[in-house]
Amino acid sequence: MIERLKKDLQGFDAQQIIQYISSEYGQKAVFSTSFGIEDQVITHLLGTINSDVSVFTLETGRLFPETYYVWNRTLERYKLPIKAYFPLAEDVQALVTEKGPSSFYESVENRKECCFVRKIEPLKRAIKGYDVWITGIRADQSANREDMDFIEWDDLNKIVKIHPLFQWSLADVEQFLKEYNVPYNPLHDKGFPSIGCQPCTRAIQPGDYFRAGRWWWEDKSKKECGLHAVK
Ligand code: ADX
Ligand code: SF4
Repeated sequence: MIERLKKDLQGFDAQQIIQYISSEYGQKAVFSTSFGIEDQVITHLLGTINSDVSVFTLETGRLFPETYYVWNRTLERYKLPIKAYFPLAEDVQALVTEKGPSSFYESVENRKECCFVRKIEPLKRAIKGYDVWITGIRADQSANREDMDFIEWDDLNKIVKIHPLFQWSLADVEQFLKEYNVPYNPLHDKGFPSIGCQPCTRAIQPGDYFRAGRWWWEDKSKKECGLHAVK
């Protein structure tokens, strides 16, 4: 399936990829949005065609107020149903009762545990039963991501992953948002190129790399939460 898709999608731009996935896979395809700027481009593209692709977000319980703001604006603008996946109440209760509300600062192990409870376990429920998972990943977001491909087999989750904006630069994304007046997270204009949970994301300084504000207290090589397995 991967090889055929790679062949079929050869030379396609993001809009053509999304159109193709919508018509070939429709209800068997799902798009994950964190309401980051890349995801807003994809939501715009999905929202302006007649698409059956499902959309979900992982509501970790620790998002920025600005993320809820852009979530609302997105619902108003595109009228696409966006399914919210929450962590399992009993898992969050157990974690926070045992380790307190900010255990993620104490060790990489604790941080990964929180990401597992709040993101990875809900992700597994969110993508279950689908054949194709669309994300907003771009190659130049990190060195790890440069090694990925715009289509890949996610062996951990047994699903095909497609990143329609894989070759886009940050400037391409910003230009698109401007041209189509797409709603975006106001934090983006305050030094936050990459936005995750509030306690684990901060603004970057000029010259910092794209994901420097994510889990900033950790070593650079550890800056993935497990949503996107690193080879
Ligand atoms: S992460 O691995 O560091 O958290 P990142 O923020 O770069 O991921 O986003 C990459 C892609 O992962 C997004 O384009 C989106 O498809 C997906 N993603 C990240 N966070 C979420 C979330 N909270 N809900 C749904 N999808 C998400
Ligand atoms: Fe928990 Fe931080 Fe991971 Fe969010 S990013 S799930 S708050 S450790």
